Amino acid sequence: MPKSVDYPLLNRQLEALLDTRDWLTNSAQTCAFIQQQLSDLNWVGFYLQREPDVLGLGPFQGQPACHPIPFSKGVCGAAARQQITQRVDDVHAVADHIACDANSRSELVVPIVVNGTLWGLLDLDSPLQARFTPQDQAGLEALVATFIRQTELPDLIER
Ligand code: SME
Repeated sequence: MPKSVDYPLLNRQLEALLDTRDWLTNSAQTCAFIQQQLSDLNWVGFYLQREPDVLGLGPFQGQPACHPIPFSKGVCGAAARQQITQRVDDVHAVADHIACDANSRSELVVPIVVNGTLWGLLDLDSPLQARFTPQDQAGLEALVATFIRQTELPDLIER
């Protein structure tokens, strides 16, 4: 079992790290910080809504990943459509899971919503089954809330 994580401490550290308002800088810093601080992750990164109902790959840490992902597909698509965090203990049990890396076993996807519109999402993958507990979900939702608070999030959708 991964050891318990002091999410309030991580949150204060992330807030201090995000000392610009720039979305590109802050998203790159956020995924690098999470990758460094949490154990047993094989991918952490952002997908961004840059065209309607499609997720484009953003800053990430890990192997090259799938791009683009329509809102209709996968765990990320479900998070984008429902605007609700998706916590999946075993991705093999999800019929339309998109396997970017065959090593991934569990996944947590936190949507980033601005004025009711999906701006993007933060996706975490782990090679361990059931890596993400409800405490991890709450902690990562709080980290994403800090990212949102610290960052100017412009409309990225090209129409
Ligand atoms: N597994 C995701 C796709 C993104 S990769 O994990 C980086 C999904 O099913 O939506």
